[in-house]
Amino acid sequence: MIMCGIVGAINGSRVVNELLDGLKRLEYRGYDSAGLAVSHNNSILIRKAEGALSNLETKLDLSPVEGRIGIAHTRWATHGEPSIANAHPHRNDRVSVVHNGIIENYEELRACLEAEGFTFQSQTDTEVVPHLIASLMASGFSPEAAALEATKRLQGAYALGILFEGEEEFFCATRKGSPLAIGHGEEAMFIASDAIALAPMTQRVSYLENGDFAIVSQNGVCVRDENGTAVERPVEQSRASAESHEKGSYSHFMIKEIHEQPDILNHVFNVPVQKKQNCNMAYEDFESLSIVACGTSCYAGQIARYWFERYAGLRVDVDIASEYRYRHSPLPQKGAALFISQSGETADTLAALEHARLQGQTIISLVNVPESSIARASDHVIQTLAGPEIGVASTKAFTAQLAALARLVIAAGIARGTLSIRDARALKVELSRVPEIVSAALSLNGQIRAAASVLQNSQSALFIGRGVNWPLACEGALKLKEISYIHAEGLGAGELKHGPIALVDGNLPVVALAPPDELQEKTLSNIKEVQARGGQIILISDERTLSGLDFEPAATIAVSAELDAPFASDLVMPFLYSIPLQLLASETALKRGCDIDKPRNLAKSVTVE
Ligand code: M6R
Repeated sequence: MIMCGIVGAINGSRVVNELLDGLKRLEYRGYDSAGLAVSHNNSILIRKAEGALSNLETKLDLSPVEGRIGIAHTRWATHGEPSIANAHPHRNDRVSVVHNGIIENYEELRACLEAEGFTFQSQTDTEVVPHLIASLMASGFSPEAAALEATKRLQGAYALGILFEGEEEFFCATRKGSPLAIGHGEEAMFIASDAIALAPMTQRVSYLENGDFAIVSQNGVCVRDENGTAVERPVEQSRASAESHEKGSYSHFMIKEIHEQPDILNHVFNVPVQKKQNCNMAYEDFESLSIVACGTSCYAGQIARYWFERYAGLRVDVDIASEYRYRHSPLPQKGAALFISQSGETADTLAALEHARLQGQTIISLVNVPESSIARASDHVIQTLAGPEIGVASTKAFTAQLAALARLVIAAGIARGTLSIRDARALKVELSRVPEIVSAALSLNGQIRAAASVLQNSQSALFIGRGVNWPLACEGALKLKEISYIHAEGLGAGELKHGPIALVDGNLPVVALAPPDELQEKTLSNIKEVQARGGQIILISDERTLSGLDFEPAATIAVSAELDAPFASDLVMPFLYSIPLQLLASETALKRGCDIDKPRNLAKSVTVE
C-alpha cells in the first residue's frame, strides 16, 4: 500500500525539470523515495533514489536523462519498505507506471501474472499494473485499450500515470478514489496529484472525476468517464501559487511557520475583508454539529467544541475521521458536519465527508488549500488563510484553524441568539489582541531552552490541562512525539488519578498548562499531586501564578495576557499557550538532532485510509 504524489508531463522538448518541479511541491505526500521515467528514442529511462527528492536530483546530475514525455513519483511507504526496488515508477519492457493509492486485489492479480511468466522486482501492490497492461498488450490490445482494460480489473483506490515504451505522443492517466488534476499548458500538458504541483507550469487546471480515463497528448486531453462516454471536464483557473517555498533566514520551515503566526492571526482578526469570510450560514437551523478531522486538525475541533457549546449553545460531537464512519451514529435530519483539514486531501477525512453527505448533513469544510478535494466536495468552504504549510508538524495551520473557528463561533452565537451583540463585540476585541500576545510569546527562548533540557533525554512525557487546555495538551504531546520521537500523551488533568499517575517517577516530565482561569486551582492541585510523587513539572502559566507557587517545578514558562473580558479566557488562551508548546517541541527535537521538517515515517498529507 502506498500513498504518494504523482506527476506526468508532455511537451515539445524536455520534461525532466517540470517533473522535478512538480515532485518538489508534492513532497508533502511522502519522502521515502522518488523516481521518474522518460520515454526517449523508443526506450523508457528510469532513475530512482531512496529518501528525499534531493537524492534523486543528485542521481540525475550524475546520470542525466532526456525526453519530452515522462512520469514521476514521490513515495510514502506502508507496504514494502522504503527502498529503490519499491520506489516508483514500476515497469516491465513495455510499460512504466506511477501510482497513488492501493490496489486491494494485487495478490490475486500477482499470482495470475506470475503464472503467465511475469517476474516481480518489488514488494509493492503497484507492480501488478504494468505487468497486467503488458499482458493485455501481448494479447492484442493497443496500449491505451490495454491500460483502460487493466483499470477495470483493479480493485481499490488509485491515481495512475502510465507511460508506454516507444510511444512518445501520449501517456494515459486515470483515477478512482485518489485525486488527479490535469494541467493545460502552452503546447504542453501535465498531470499531478494536485494543482499546487502544477502551479509553476500552468494555472489552467481540470480535475478527473472518479472512474475517468484520460489520454494526454501535447496539445490536449481526451477523457472518457467510467461508462466510456467522451466527456469534457471544465478547465478552471487555479489559485495555487507558483512561488517556490523558501525558508528565508530560518533554519527550518517549522520555525519559520511558528514565527508567521502573529501576521496570519492579524490578517484573520484585524483585516476587515477577511473577518467576513464565509460566516453566512444558517447556523440557527442546525440542531447539532459533528466536527470530524485527524491529528492536529482534530484537536482544533476539540477546542472549538468547548467554544460552540458555551458561546453558541450548539451541541457538538467531535470524531477522528478514521472512526466516524464506523460508529453508526444516528445523525440528525438538520445536522451539519464540519470537516477540518489543513491539506484538504486527508483520505480519512474525505471518506468521512462522503459518509456524512449520504446521511443528509450540510457539509462545511475548513481547509488551508482552497482547491483541495475536501473543499471541492463541500457545501460551504471556509479557508484558514495560513498560507502553504511545509513543515510536517502543523503549527500555523493549527492556530489559523482556531482563528477561523473562533470567528465562526461568534457568528453562530449571534445568529442563534446565545451571544448578545455586546458580548460578541467584547470577544472580538479580545481576539483582535491575540496577534500581539502571540508575538510576545515568541520571544521566550531562554525559558524554552531550559524546559527542553528537562525533556531532552526522557523516554516519555505527559501533557496535562483542563477545559480547552486538555485538547491543547494533546496537541502539545502530538507535536513533541512526531518530531522528537519521545513518547508523549495528553491528558485531562483530572484523569491523572484514574491510572496515568502510576507512571509518575523522577524520570517522567509532566508538561502542565495552567492559565489563570476558572479551572486553574484544580489544575494546580493535580500538578502538586505529580510533584509529591517526584514527577518533573514543566509548568506553563502566567507570571503571577508562577511567582506565587509553594513548590518548585523543574522548569517554568511564563506567558501572560490581561483580558478586559475575563469570560473570553477560554477563547483567547489556546492561541497564547500553543506557542510555548510548539517551541518546546521544536527545541527538544533540535537538541536531539531530529529533522523537524521531515520527521521519520511521516508525510505531510495522509492520502490513504
Ligand atoms: O491535512 P490535515 O489537517 O487533514 O492533516 C491531519 C493530520 O494528518 C495532521 O494534522 C498531522 O497530525 C500533523 N502532522 C500534526 O502535526
